Amino acid sequence: MAEEKATAKTSVLLEETRIFEAPKDLAENSNVMKWMKEKGFKTEREMRLWCSANYIQFWGEMAKTYADWFEPWSSTLEWKPPYAKWFVGGKCNVTHNCVDRHAQGAKKDKVAYIFVPEPTDQPTQKITYAQLEKEVNKFANGLKSLGVVKGDRVMLYMPMIPQLPIAMLAIAKIGAIHCIVFSGFSSGGLNSRIMDAEAKVVITVDGFYRRGKPLPLKPNVDEATANTPSVKNVVVCKRTGVAVPMKEGKDIWWDDLVAGKSDACECEKMDSEDRLFILYTSGTTGKPKGIEHVHGGYQVGPAQTLHWVFDVKDNDVWWCTADIGWITGHSYIVYGPLVLGATSIMYEGSPDFPDLGRWYKIIQDNKVSVFYTAPTAVRMLMKAGDSWAKKYDVSSLRLLGSVGEPINPEAWMWYRNTFGAGKLPIMDTWWQTETGTFLVSPLPITPLKPGSATFPLPGFNIDVLDEEANPVPLGSGGNIVSNTPWPSMLRAFYRDPERYQKEYWSTYWDIRPGTYLAGDKAMKDKDGYFFIQGRIDDVLKIAGHRISNAEVESALVSHPKVAEAAVIGKPDEVKGEVIVAFVILRTGQEETEELKKELAKHVRTVLGPVAYPETVLFVKDVPKTRSGKIMRRVIKAKALGKPTGDLSALANPDAVDAIPLI
Ligand code: PRX
Repeated sequence: MAEEKATAKTSVLLEETRIFEAPKDLAENSNVMKWMKEKGFKTEREMRLWCSANYIQFWGEMAKTYADWFEPWSSTLEWKPPYAKWFVGGKCNVTHNCVDRHAQGAKKDKVAYIFVPEPTDQPTQKITYAQLEKEVNKFANGLKSLGVVKGDRVMLYMPMIPQLPIAMLAIAKIGAIHCIVFSGFSSGGLNSRIMDAEAKVVITVDGFYRRGKPLPLKPNVDEATANTPSVKNVVVCKRTGVAVPMKEGKDIWWDDLVAGKSDACECEKMDSEDRLFILYTSGTTGKPKGIEHVHGGYQVGPAQTLHWVFDVKDNDVWWCTADIGWITGHSYIVYGPLVLGATSIMYEGSPDFPDLGRWYKIIQDNKVSVFYTAPTAVRMLMKAGDSWAKKYDVSSLRLLGSVGEPINPEAWMWYRNTFGAGKLPIMDTWWQTETGTFLVSPLPITPLKPGSATFPLPGFNIDVLDEEANPVPLGSGGNIVSNTPWPSMLRAFYRDPERYQKEYWSTYWDIRPGTYLAGDKAMKDKDGYFFIQGRIDDVLKIAGHRISNAEVESALVSHPKVAEAAVIGKPDEVKGEVIVAFVILRTGQEETEELKKELAKHVRTVLGPVAYPETVLFVKDVPKTRSGKIMRRVIKAKALGKPTGDLSALANPDAVDAIPLI
């Protein structure tokens, strides 16, 4: 039923006739309008088209506008599909652009972060650019004393506390590469990523707060590093004071590491293409992909889009509610806002603790002016009703944003009315871990349609193609692609060039090499507005978090009583999707309710709470192709009571009948 509703909405989306023009003063005074006037562009369309047609020139100008370079580049782009090099020969360091230049200039006393901690009785902490510089430098010197050098991988497994961006910036400053693992993953997820990245150092905390209670985190790291010879040291930041075991000679407290260290540290002069970070994300197989981003190009995209799309200005208070463990936090809590020298909120916790007024209160108390969140959170707050919003004054807001999954028009309208006083524009930004920055998004001058990310941004050549690589006509859908490279795009998968080529570039390679396949379906309506419709591959989006079906299935199969598992996403009003697992037990195992609970708990232990299956069901068989591939599409259709389509390719069509409705 729920999916039927979703499908019905899709066609409604394409007939969306409501258009919301941007408030005149916002549009007229926007950063993008200023640039347009300087360049003599008369209309938004003309500007978008010119920037995309002249994308190399455009990005060259943006790279000079938003970043300082130690040495200029000799060539803006070298493009040998599927490998792009931007700003070739240029020397830079993203930490110089995020911290040093502000701390040593007019912004030294400007607040970089307003940190709002989870225990709500703890005080809000303000960190200026000058303070940030000192902390970053001390920690950078601490890392050097552990023998961390350029190119080394350093793993971060931390909650949302200021030491997280401090560590990231310190790692980047000395030319090492950070890999953040979202702290909602458990030791299994952490272990596989440490192994893949061969990390030298892991940085974590003793514990963290969840719903006001301190919980330990360090023990997960102990488990995850039991068999990882590459890890020489574990740095532990004291967050809760819970007692944790420390291994002599390996584990070291953050405070001890920085004690007596100089608060001055030179930036390593990085080549534009030197790696800045690896961020693991889910693909179609169970093995997470290590997406690699670089100093030179990556520092341009997030800053430029934050300036243009979210119109962030010097006196704004910017709040992106994401976790830094995901790309949204990397780009829009750390690198984008800091390159701009902006003031950001960084908060720890959740929107419903201690009550559903938490976010409204943070906005009110800190006069947040630009606010960026995910549809799942909007739906959660919408479900709770308007009364929470009415208790607080959110009139400091002037612009809103959405990311992570399609936003339903009703949630869009509610968001606009409740947070946006019925008039604020919502920037629905479509992008991915791989893209580093927004690709399809409105600007504050764009007429909006609820549920649409509107148009490709300036500097991008995004299109929707059919299977033969023809652009689809207006009013229909296909695969969303990029026809040209962009500076903040991924450069590769860590040590897996074949998979990189296969996953993004192989689909249209024979027809149009260099066409990036994003992995999403999209529709263009009669006016050319993009409506993103979700993944084409087996990737789940649970409350906006990207999890692969295969990853959850392998976690289930790692339980000694499980023979096989198939995982699907079931539509959910708040989370977008929830996980439903169909499990085949090993011979002789009894199908009990207790075992269902145990299996769900097992997934939580192996992968973390983020992948917790809402429902576990036992089946005797799952439909498969003759080559043995589990047909999740068929299982999903049957379980949701939808037509299952052509089953002739199945090796065991009877298995379909046995799939229960969910
Ligand atoms: O399916 C799209 C969805 O999120 C995927 C990327 O997930 P991840 O790499 O975790 O990054 C999330 C934050 C950028 C995309 O392939 N997605 C992201 N933004 C939107 C979206 N779907 C619809 N509308 C969006 N605005």
